[in-house]
Amino acid sequence: MNERAVIQLSGVEKWFQSGVERLQVLAGVELTVESGTSTAITGESGCGKTTLLNIIGGLEFPSAGSAVSAGYRLDALAEDELTEYRQHVVGLVFQFHFLLKDFTALENVLLPAYMAGVGREAAEVRAGELLREVGLGERLQHFPHQLSGGERQRVAVARALINDPSIMLADEPTGNLDEDNSELVADTLFALVRSRNTTLVMVTHNRELAARGDRLLRLEHGVLNRI
Ligand SMILES: Nc1ncnc2c1ncn2[C@@H]1O[C@H](COP(=O)(O)OP(=O)(O)OP(=O)(O)O)[C@@H](O)[C@H]1O
Ligand SMILES: [Mg+2]
Repeated sequence: MNERAVIQLSGVEKWFQSGVERLQVLAGVELTVESGTSTAITGESGCGKTTLLNIIGGLEFPSAGSAVSAGYRLDALAEDELTEYRQHVVGLVFQFHFLLKDFTALENVLLPAYMAGVGREAAEVRAGELLREVGLGERLQHFPHQLSGGERQRVAVARALINDPSIMLADEPTGNLDEDNSELVADTLFALVRSRNTTLVMVTHNRELAARGDRLLRLEHGVLNRI
């Protein structure tokens, strides 16, 4: 294993079985990601990008191959390790923000810390700091429906970082936004991961966002290639 690698996938396959049909989505993915770097992944719709990120995020398991992330063997994790990995090691941002509609921005951001056992007060302080960092210091008590699309996505970025993950995974984080908001969310995302030296793996169709990564990969026919 590469000394500086934080994520190392080797021969990762993923297939979905329905009846006798087997849909092979990933067909031997090789991926080494070094700590503190940013990697952008593109590829046609349906090629398996979300499936790949879900495997790195511990949300799905590979059908074959080995997947190691931050020292965790994702292909063979015990239930308690999986919870720990999802709670403390990875932060996730999706195309849709998935904020809880009955909770304020502050509450949405503090919730993962609270769930991880941080006291309410400390979690609130930390969530407030993060929201100020993403430029939403004046929106702490706003509910999701009182925020713009770009603001909601910046809340989602803050929420993903509340437990100080060493790896940030973003699946088309600007997919639902117009150009100006895309840029703002991208600026926020990069500023935060750079200041924390967080490793970033993102899936995006947005060329400008992809170009900001340290490297760009394309998922095609179930394997990753350099562009
Ligand atoms: N749970 C599942 N069961 C069966 N098939 C699935 C499942 N999840 C994904 N697939 C199939 O796997 C393929 C890859 O899906 P995935 O969501 O990873 O694609 P994607 O590259 O993220 O596409 P998009 O750019 O549209 O988001 C698709 O053909 C999809 O239908
Ligand atoms: Mg997808």
